[in-house]
Amino acid sequence: MKYTAPRGTKDILPDETSVWQGIEKTCRKLFELYNYSEIRTPVFEQTELFTRSIGQTTDIVSKEMYTFLDRKGRSLTLRPEETAPVVRAAIENNLIQKDKLTKLYYIGPMFRYERPQMGRQRQFHQAGIEVFGSDNPAIDVEGISLAMQIFNRLGISNLEVDLNSVGCNKCRPEYFIRIKSFFKDKIKSMCEDCQKRFETNPLRILDCKEPNCQKFIEKAPAIKDILCPECKTHFEKVITGLESLKIKYKVNNRLVRGLDYYTCTAFEIVSGQLGAQNAVCGGGRYDTLVEEFGGPKTAAFGFAIGLERVVEIIKSTKSNNQPSKQAPSLYVATMGDEAEKIGFELVSKARGAGISADMDYLRKSLKAQMKTADNEKAKYVLIIGDDEIKKNKAILKNMQTGGQEEIAFDEALHRLTS
Ligand code: HAM
Repeated sequence: MKYTAPRGTKDILPDETSVWQGIEKTCRKLFELYNYSEIRTPVFEQTELFTRSIGQTTDIVSKEMYTFLDRKGRSLTLRPEETAPVVRAAIENNLIQKDKLTKLYYIGPMFRYERPQMGRQRQFHQAGIEVFGSDNPAIDVEGISLAMQIFNRLGISNLEVDLNSVGCNKCRPEYFIRIKSFFKDKIKSMCEDCQKRFETNPLRILDCKEPNCQKFIEKAPAIKDILCPECKTHFEKVITGLESLKIKYKVNNRLVRGLDYYTCTAFEIVSGQLGAQNAVCGGGRYDTLVEEFGGPKTAAFGFAIGLERVVEIIKSTKSNNQPSKQAPSLYVATMGDEAEKIGFELVSKARGAGISADMDYLRKSLKAQMKTADNEKAKYVLIIGDDEIKKNKAILKNMQTGGQEEIAFDEALHRLTS
C-alpha cells in the first residue's frame, strides 16, 4: 500500500523550506518591529466558536469546516482561521484590559474543505495580527501598512489594497433593507446560492462571482451611501491615512469578505501575479466580536496573510534572496572503524562548539565521501584514515581553495573557530 498526502494538502520539502523560513522570519521581524507579541492557540476549537463568529451562512461554516466529534461526543473543528481562536484566548487569559492596547500575532496552519486549485488548499498557512482596544482609524492604517511593509521586504510588488466599509450594527440593517428591495424582483433570475443568500444573508449576494449574477450586482446600491456618520468618518480617516503613507488603494464597494464578523473597515490585498485566487491578505475591523464572546466591549482590528500565495509569487518572480539550506562548515570523512569513532567524537565536539558539522554513516569510499561533502557544499573536510590515526593527525581540506594541511585532531576545531 502506497500512501499519498490527503487531497488539498502539500508536503513542504527541504528544497522549499528555506523560502518558508525566510518569509516567516520577515513576518516575525516586522510584527515585532510594530510591537506585536506572538500567540499560539490549539489547532482545534469548539465548533460553536467558529459558527458564531464567522457566521452560519458563510461558505466557510456551511461547507468548509473540518468538524468531528471527539470520544466524548463533543463537536470540535480544525481552525479555518485564527481570529476567533485569538479572541477566545485573549478573553480567557485576561489579555484584554481597559485602556490597554493588546497586539498579538500568529503564524500557523489553517484548514478549510475547499476545492483545491492553484492558491487554494485544504491545509494552508497564515501569518496574521489581531489588535484589541482601539477604534482609532490609525490602527487600521498601521495594520494595512504593516502588511504592505512585509510584502515590500519580501520583494513583492504589483499589489493593490481593495478597501471598503461594511458599516456597523447601526447602519447595516438599513442596507439590508435596500439590498433586499433591490434584488426582490431579480433574485429569481439569479443563481441558487444567491437565492439562499437573499433569505439568510443578503450582503453575501455582493460576493457572488457568477457572470449572470454580476450584471445585477453591478447596479446594486453601494453601502457607502447609507453609512452612519461614525462609519463614514472612520472610513474617510482610513483613506486619508493610507494616502499620507502613499499606499496604493482602490475603494471596492462590492468587497464584503467571506466572514461575518467585520464592522467598518474591510480590506484585501490583491496581487496582479496570481490567477483567480489573487488575495494575498485579508482583514478588517471587528468591533463587536469580543463582546459577543463574553469579553468587555472592545474595538478590534486584524489581518491574515496567505503564505502559500506569497511562496507562489516569490517562486515565480525569483525575488527570493533567502539563502538556500545552510551548508555544513565541516564534513568529516573517515576510513575504518577506529577513524569513524574519532570522527564521530570530533563531529560532536564541533557541534558543541557551534560549528555545523556532519559525517558519513554509510561506510562509503573516501572518494564517495568527498563527493558528498562537495554536494553538501561543506566549507572544510577533515579526512581521517589509518595513516592519520598512527600520526594522531588528520588532513584538513579547504573546499573553496582546494588547499590542504596535516593537523592534530585537537587543533582542527580550533582552526575552524579562529
Ligand atoms: P481570509 O480572507 O479568509 O481572512 O484569509 C486570509 C488569507 O488567507 C487570504 O487572503 C488567502 O491569502 C489565504 N487563504 C484563505 N483560504 C485559503 C486556502 N484555502 N488556501 C490558501 N490560502 C488561503 C481570514 O482568515 C481572517 N481571519 C483574517 C482576519 C484577521 N481578519 C481579521 N483578523
